[in-house]
Amino acid sequence: MARKFFVGGNWKCNGTTEEVKKIVTTLNQAEVPSHDVVEVVVSPPFVFLTLVKSLLRSDFHVAAQNCWVRKGGAFTGEVSAEMLVNLGVPWVIIGHSERRALLNESNEFVGDKVAYALSQGLKVIACVGETLEQRESGSTMSVVAAQTKAIAEKITNWDNVVLAYEPVWAIGTGKVATPAQAQEVHCELRKWLSENVGADIAASTRIIYGGSVNGANCRELAGQPDVDGFLVGGASLKPEFVDIIKSAT
Ligand code: G3P
Repeated sequence: MARKFFVGGNWKCNGTTEEVKKIVTTLNQAEVPSHDVVEVVVSPPFVFLTLVKSLLRSDFHVAAQNCWVRKGGAFTGEVSAEMLVNLGVPWVIIGHSERRALLNESNEFVGDKVAYALSQGLKVIACVGETLEQRESGSTMSVVAAQTKAIAEKITNWDNVVLAYEPVWAIGTGKVATPAQAQEVHCELRKWLSENVGADIAASTRIIYGGSVNGANCRELAGQPDVDGFLVGGASLKPEFVDIIKSAT
């Protein structure tokens, strides 16, 4: 089954109004494969979502970097899924390893967030990934399977889910996973989906890679059969993000 290549840009906690406008101008001027070939979603901080959405070319889309786990209300500092829908923001990143680590977001909490976001009509980039210690102890697959299971237990429809494998040891370190390492985990994740969720969902769900992707390493990674795209951090703030979009095969 053909899976449309997906390139996400996670801007994390970065940017000023001027810097954001400059990034969007670069993106708007970029010559990239058509939206039939590659789906591009950029994720600015909440405070810039409306600005970016208003300036961004119509064939690219925006994502929030998180949303609350239930309907809004007395949850100071949170942003609800309903608010994102009201703003016309179609995507949301959930379960990023930085939030799992810094804010103690458990597998179950991430699963609940994914379910609630989908229930409100958002499309979700759901993140999984192991730490260096977990990889070195040989527990990579048990960790990412448990993270994926916690999501699978809460949802039935995967049509609006993109699964992002982001090994924590590759995030922000410059130590990108080798194409073989990425392919191995993506293939195992797809096998897990086939055995535990269903063959059709396994075949159609995009599994994207994140962790030190850049303009130099993206093409070899993109050539792996189970790598359906990227979730890019640091490089998404730079013009080389366009090169990464062009790696869509
Ligand atoms: O969500 C993507 C991010 O975690 C990857 O960061 O800077 O290693 O591309 P980076």
